[in-house]
Amino acid sequence: TILVLDFGSQYSHLITRRLRELNVYSEMLPCTQKLADLSWSPKGIILSGGPYSVYEEGAPHVDPAVFDAGVPILGICYGLQEMAYHFDNTNVLAGEKREYGPATVNVERLADKKDHVNDLFRGLDDALNVWMSHGDKLSHSPASFVTIAKTPNAPFAGIAHEEKPYFGIQFHPEVTHTPKGKQVLENFAIRICKARQDWTMGKFVDQEIARIRALVGDKGQVIGAISGGVDSTVAAKLMKEAIGDRFHAVLVDNGLLRLNEAAQVKKTLGDHLGINLTVIDAGDLFLSRLAGVKDDPEKKRKIIGNTFIDVFLEKAKQIEKEAHNTPQAGEIEWLLQGTLYPDVIESISFKGPSATIKTHHNVGGLPAKMDLKLIEPLRELFKDEVRELGTKLGISEELVWRHPFPGPGLGIRILGEVTKEQVQILQKADQIYIEEIRAAGLYREIGQALAALDPTKSVGVMGDKRMYGQIVFLRAVETSDFMTADWYNFDFQFLKRVSSRIVNEVDGVSRVLYDITSKPPGTIEFE
Ligand code: XMP
Repeated sequence: TILVLDFGSQYSHLITRRLRELNVYSEMLPCTQKLADLSWSPKGIILSGGPYSVYEEGAPHVDPAVFDAGVPILGICYGLQEMAYHFDNTNVLAGEKREYGPATVNVERLADKKDHVNDLFRGLDDALNVWMSHGDKLSHSPASFVTIAKTPNAPFAGIAHEEKPYFGIQFHPEVTHTPKGKQVLENFAIRICKARQDWTMGKFVDQEIARIRALVGDKGQVIGAISGGVDSTVAAKLMKEAIGDRFHAVLVDNGLLRLNEAAQVKKTLGDHLGINLTVIDAGDLFLSRLAGVKDDPEKKRKIIGNTFIDVFLEKAKQIEKEAHNTPQAGEIEWLLQGTLYPDVIESISFKGPSATIKTHHNVGGLPAKMDLKLIEPLRELFKDEVRELGTKLGISEELVWRHPFPGPGLGIRILGEVTKEQVQILQKADQIYIEEIRAAGLYREIGQALAALDPTKSVGVMGDKRMYGQIVFLRAVETSDFMTADWYNFDFQFLKRVSSRIVNEVDGVSRVLYDITSKPPGTIEFE
């Protein structure tokens, strides 16, 4: 195991992800972690980047025992400065010029030094394209270190200790903008630390199940909302494997789901995956609260979010009451969330996890209202890893590759007032669109596809009659992270077919438009 000590860089989790790609197991802990408190001994330690300056008051510092652990250490960015600061109390930093973006570092091969100093860049070209992101940089190589990489702006971009396997680099090897970065991490983990390459998704499943069991105990119970999407389904399936029916999944049907979605989720999660699932049909309540709300999408989101909380809390109380009657089970103490790493907006920092972890809660405000502890089995993973995990857990391809669907559902795809009639129109149009995308074999290469309904009336002619109907917008995007996206380039025959089907098969629609706005400036959803 490689220990990653996190100083709060936005890239920290990418380090553990790259190590996983090398099949090396790693654990990331806050930078203040005391080595003596660990129950295991790391094979190597990586000090991450971070937003601070080592001389700043209150700047985080590692447990000095790290440097006596007798294992290799790699400092990245702030980690490099922290290492230099530890070994050399002369002023090692010069920081006036921020550097952010691509750079080329020149690797120095030092034939007259001990061989290990060349190990970090072994097998790599002498000129490496890298990604820099830092304020401070070293002003000189610290005592007992030699320089192993330079750039014109950072003459000490890489350093190695002359005697010990300690290395520091100013650039970020963990980001994809450093194309050979993974090889640098591989040199560190495999060549230098001799870490075993035996980590697999199957091991993650075993570890996570063991962790969940230890957390929850043999009587504790967990409740969680599921949506039918890949994240909550994978999280739910893990819980099921770990604690069986002591996990209670709840699907709130808000009346804004896709056509027949609630029934389908019930079938796949309940019948097929054997998850203990309760479906609540609350469509009428949601729609009654949405009545009359026309032109304020945030208000819609709030109403939907708050109604969700009301419905979920009431059900949770009932489930708790019933669960108490089973002698072998204890209290519901935990709330499951399928939060992924990209949802975790602040990484664990030196102030300690509880002070700074903030997550996007899809079901806004729910944890605060419930006196429950959060359990987030996917919080280290990225979407593609969740898909791999889902496959490993026996979840169907179709579900594992589903496009994301927003919590407020069709509510934010119906521009203007949300009514039962509008939902029905949009459900039909959406169904045709997605069905055609699947039939054309395009579903996987599209990141997200959606139909939206604009109540503005537009004139059409059908048969010999003039008709006055609404407009359906179609949108499809290609994206890797949903932060930026480009519209999907369908061929015209495909669009023609979908348009013709929607106008002919869905009453009340007279026109179909395809959205060719990228994100930014457009967002993926219309509201
Ligand atoms: P935007 O529209 O912001 O969407 O470009 C980016 C991704 O987020 C989803 N999205 C939401 N998901 N609640 C959700 O659970 C919401 O209120 C919400 N708004 C947008 C959207 O579907 C896309 O995948």
